[in-house]
Amino acid sequence: MEIIKIFDTTLRDGEQSPGASMNTEEKIQIAAQLERLGVDIIEAGFAAASPGDFDAVSKIAQRVQNSTICSLARAIDADIKAAGEAIAAAKMKRIHTFIATSPIHMQYKLKMTPDEVIRRAVRAVEYAREFVDDVEFSCEDAGRSEIGFMKEITDAVIEAGATTINLPDTVGFRLPSEIGAMVKEMSEYTKGRAIISVHNHNDLGLGVANSLEAITNGAGQVECTINGLGERAGNAALEEIVMAIKTRQDIFKGFDTNINTKEIYPTSRLIANITSIEPQPNKAIVGKNAFAHESGIHQDGVLKHKETYEIIRPEDIGLDMEDTLVLGKHSGRAAFKDKLAKLGFTLSDDELNSAFERFKELADKKKDIYDDDIRALVTSEMANIEKAYELVAMQLMDSTGGVPSAAVTIRHNDEDITDAGIGDGTIDAVFKTIDRITGYQGQLIDYKVKSVSQGKDALANVTVKVTFNENEPAIIGHGLSLDTMLASAKAYIGALNSYLSMEGKLKLRQMDSTETI
Ligand code: KIV
Ligand code: ZN
Repeated sequence: MEIIKIFDTTLRDGEQSPGASMNTEEKIQIAAQLERLGVDIIEAGFAAASPGDFDAVSKIAQRVQNSTICSLARAIDADIKAAGEAIAAAKMKRIHTFIATSPIHMQYKLKMTPDEVIRRAVRAVEYAREFVDDVEFSCEDAGRSEIGFMKEITDAVIEAGATTINLPDTVGFRLPSEIGAMVKEMSEYTKGRAIISVHNHNDLGLGVANSLEAITNGAGQVECTINGLGERAGNAALEEIVMAIKTRQDIFKGFDTNINTKEIYPTSRLIANITSIEPQPNKAIVGKNAFAHESGIHQDGVLKHKETYEIIRPEDIGLDMEDTLVLGKHSGRAAFKDKLAKLGFTLSDDELNSAFERFKELADKKKDIYDDDIRALVTSEMANIEKAYELVAMQLMDSTGGVPSAAVTIRHNDEDITDAGIGDGTIDAVFKTIDRITGYQGQLIDYKVKSVSQGKDALANVTVKVTFNENEPAIIGHGLSLDTMLASAKAYIGALNSYLSMEGKLKLRQMDSTETI
């Protein structure tokens, strides 16, 4: 069996999905789950991007034992140094450095000649080798690069110490037959000298098809993300690639991965909960409808013999573990802890106590508690980890034709502050009053409300995207409550708390591609 290496970039390229930014605690939980899933390489982030990214990569490097931890770095000394330092504590570590190799990128973006690009790539790989033995080099926009030039730069970077050569279809332009031909030529060319990897974007909806074609043509590694998250239309979805290999062993004879497929569904749910980006209902493998048979003919067939309409068994992706919680308000801490572990959470004693308290409060009010309720309880708390401001009470007034108003009490430095305000709608009144109390003027960029599970008594999960300073990136806040207005207020205050806890760490370095060494 040839084991195809699964390189997961949910925490790096996936985080580049609009609205998918995650805080350090959330990234650590995701990395722990990716390790449980059996991912070979976790691209934990882009250490040089900001102090917050550096912090997250280095904490993941300290925590994960069974997957290689990788940081991305442009072909620039400062980036490579940051990557090397951030992953220093990892048991297995890799630096992934890249520079564009397509004529269009070299001419217009880098404004560099091909020779300059090669020199820069070689320098980057040599410098990366001062920190680690495992260096991946990416020809950014390989999909539109000339194969002759890629061979030239590949020879040079292998000579400099690169062990994996990644060929990203950065703009998702190529068709499967073209990717297959490129990978075949490059893997025959580099045979025995380096592993060929692919990283396929999904702009034409072909990310997974292209990755599968790459595997049968010699790629030894595929880069992918959970739920297909990623820049623009996203990346090839890990779950689709892995399940295609497993389901179509007639075609992928001799190929396998190290993925424990039973962890696919829990991983997908964890990431959907943390990012508040739900996979589309008809998304292959992990969409809510992926195993739902609507038509009578199909239902009849499945009842008589499952394989009439099911090519994958739900239990193979861990879907059978998803159930109504058999815990109730009388359940103990041990059973709750066990459930959390099954859902992929590893909490400290303090975190466990506080999650258990919130579970008990919920169990008092809500009859049926589902796995997603528990995930939401834990992840909403994670997202708003340091609480400079805490919602104590809220009273709302609204009527048809009246003026919406809110009275809000917030605790700050052990003092309860109350104020009231009006707005164009109830949410506007609540958010403006919070601004008056805290003195921070948030700009609301996005607001989403979603019911976590089912029933009229379902929890509302509100996600807000807010900027508190126009020069800094937007912050995501999550709020969870049986009451949508309370959830909204908590989400907004949560975003402010995250902002304050990351002050100084948020400033993104000016990331452009022309920066010099
Ligand atoms: O899409 C791309 O080219 C990338 C590289 C940095 C690998 O994400
Ligand atoms: Zn990418």
